[in-house]
Amino acid sequence: MIAAYQARSQSRVDASLEQLFAAPPTELARLYQAMRYSVINGGKRVRPLLVYAACEALGGKPEQADGAACAVELIHAYSLVHDDLPAMDDDDLRRGQPTTHKAFDEAVAILAGDGLQSLAFEVLADAHCNPHPAELRLSMISCLTHAAGPAGMVGGQAIDLGSVGQQLDQPALETMHRHKTGALIEASVRLGALSSGRADERSLRALHAYAQAIGLAFQVQDDILDVESDTATLGKTQGKDQANHKPTYPALLGLDAAKAYAEELRDQALHALRLFDSAAEPLRELARYIVERRN
Ligand code: IPE
Ligand code: IPE
Ligand code: MG
Ligand code: MG
Ligand code: MG
Repeated sequence: MIAAYQARSQSRVDASLEQLFAAPPTELARLYQAMRYSVINGGKRVRPLLVYAACEALGGKPEQADGAACAVELIHAYSLVHDDLPAMDDDDLRRGQPTTHKAFDEAVAILAGDGLQSLAFEVLADAHCNPHPAELRLSMISCLTHAAGPAGMVGGQAIDLGSVGQQLDQPALETMHRHKTGALIEASVRLGALSSGRADERSLRALHAYAQAIGLAFQVQDDILDVESDTATLGKTQGKDQANHKPTYPALLGLDAAKAYAEELRDQALHALRLFDSAAEPLRELARYIVERRN
């Protein structure tokens, strides 16, 4: 079920993303090539999937969520390009290919990341890409800016880089993960709900609880996979967290306890959806997928 849903949602968002890079101005060919290279490269598209699944859980149609799905993936792709830079995690491999700064150069990678970030907000603001009333588009922009910025992903990345070589306690590690990864996952679910045009306070609260749990679970599982997967499966270099002296859940709790924690978070997410009917099945499947995935 999840595989078919995933394939359908992936081709929807990939079609929207492709359009953004279809007609680059000649003098900007290299910048556009680098942006396209960083996005159209086999990512799992978990955040767009969450957007579609949250929209559908509230009875919305996927075409209402195309703009938001595209925008969250653009922010995510930008965060990966910058995360891989030598000044940050210094990674050579991403999604099974050389990282953007390796395939191009550092300056182009920085600008490609900047460009992807701006494009995300252009898509949300544009009435053609994101066909919702202006007030709703503004709420969506506000949601994504908050999640991407210092109160969210950028803040989390700052905590991450400031914590190299340190032993964080569990509350501090949780704060870091909730910022660097949880915030964008929470925004994906909220943007999906808003796209449905049917979000009420009660469902937004339940979806927020769901998203908080899977957002943290996603990074706990990412930390686990860095320990126990392999480079070919991951499409990124295995063992980098230890090599870079990053605080992680397996390092703090041990592998078994980290796995048990990810499963506990999945169960919390499923519990948060208890009042939803079968339209929320893709969201439930995604919660299971996030802790079972192998890459
Ligand atoms: C990796 O995200 C970075 C994290 C926030 C943990 P994904 O595992 O979603 O990476 P892609 O998009 O599938 O490459
Ligand atoms: C990345 O966390 C979070 C981002 C905001 C990009 P990681 O540094 O663990 O992501 P990977 O393992 O390189 O994909
Ligand atoms: Mg990192
Ligand atoms: Mg990294
Ligand atoms: Mg990681």
